[in-house]
Amino acid sequence: MQFFERHEGGERAVLLHVVSRQQSRAEDLDEFRELVDSAGAEILGECLASREAPDPRLYIGKGKAEELADLVKNTEADLVVVNAQLSPSQERNLEAVLQCRVLDRTGLILDIFSQRARSHEGKLQVELAQLKHLSTRLVRGWTHLERQRGGSIGLRGPGETQLEMDRRLIHDRIKQLQERIAKVRRQRQEGRKTRQKSQVPLVSLVGYTNAGKSTLFNALTEAGTFAADQLFATLDTTLRRLDFAPGEPMVLADTVGFIRHLPHELVTAFRSTLEETLEADLLIHVVDAASPERDRQMTDVEVVLKEIGADTLPRLTVMNKIDQLEDRAPEISRNEAGEIDRVWMSAQSGSGLDLLRQALSERLLPSRTVINLFLPASLGGLRARWLNEGAIVTEYWQDEAGQQLGWQLTLSLTQARWDQWRKHHPELEACLAAPA
Ligand code: GTP
Repeated sequence: MQFFERHEGGERAVLLHVVSRQQSRAEDLDEFRELVDSAGAEILGECLASREAPDPRLYIGKGKAEELADLVKNTEADLVVVNAQLSPSQERNLEAVLQCRVLDRTGLILDIFSQRARSHEGKLQVELAQLKHLSTRLVRGWTHLERQRGGSIGLRGPGETQLEMDRRLIHDRIKQLQERIAKVRRQRQEGRKTRQKSQVPLVSLVGYTNAGKSTLFNALTEAGTFAADQLFATLDTTLRRLDFAPGEPMVLADTVGFIRHLPHELVTAFRSTLEETLEADLLIHVVDAASPERDRQMTDVEVVLKEIGADTLPRLTVMNKIDQLEDRAPEISRNEAGEIDRVWMSAQSGSGLDLLRQALSERLLPSRTVINLFLPASLGGLRARWLNEGAIVTEYWQDEAGQQLGWQLTLSLTQARWDQWRKHHPELEACLAAPA
């Protein structure tokens, strides 16, 4: 259900960049242009306003607003997008002065999220964020209207009833969405439990927006996930199971790209897309190695990873898009501990993909431990469960006369998983001693 109208792509837009002394970096302006482009609007003109503190009524000064109104008129734009967060009344006042629709940064990002959300939970989260954003605007709008009408008899028309109904509808819908999200969450956690049991490692792709995560995801899985030269081509964590080496499965998660200055009320929607990331056995940080902003983007990603507590997870960095760099062949580099920590490659051409697979094998496989044990027939239930999770490498059934019936087993599993088995089944201690 599309609850309220979203603007269609192809709108004619004028941008208003508001800069201050602390925040006036050219990259911010570039990123803003890309965001607008991602939303599908055509940029007809730009206006730069420099302000240390926002004007309470219009956000910008009156003179600047008039200049902007002229620009809107001359370019025949039907939308002004502001690189800042406006209060509902500032948005309304600006609309009145400019005689066209005004969208602030939050509205813009929400619009992009809603165009890109694909998974069930992502769609619900985005609709919830949109309704919350809308409801603050409506509620304040009503307060203003109600004051104007002053409860005068005869002025309570169907308009007001309609607004009341809208308010109730929105409230009901928000409640319904929250319940659904809780349910989807529970289901996802169930799925996660199954995954933990099966001990398939989870590898999560993270990185700055447009770094090439979806392209790499596709190259690894050949899954055909939507990848496009737009910001936020992926909103949701997309999961796929694949073998990174013969007979060695892993689950690969694609995540939404990071950007700077994410509006506060969108953090939850964004974070929900990164939840899987926190449980990853390995993070692949995908970097657009050809971007002039490369170092800054890498730092930005580090900051967010730290914020969500994912900075201590094992990490592999993919320096992507080497086809756009001169004299860069596919290559791996190792850290002081001798582990592969960087892979230079191109997700698009596929060169270096073999090196990435090698890195995954080296990073994911050594964590497995080999256990030899004798399992008596009476504990056959455990054998069935190990078979289920693919932990049994070899087994011999022993039924010679005079000897205990059971299996001589070789298991391969992570140390953590083996420790769990031992904890829950103390009887395994006796099995570790070879049978007489
Ligand atoms: P978000 O979903 O916005 O976070 O982006 P993403 O990191 O998933 O990037 P995506 O895979 O959508 O790629 C962004 C753009 O970079 C697309 O136009 C890709 O075709 C392009 N791209 C990805 N990998 C490479 C590469 O190795 N070389 C070149 N030249 N372009 C690439």
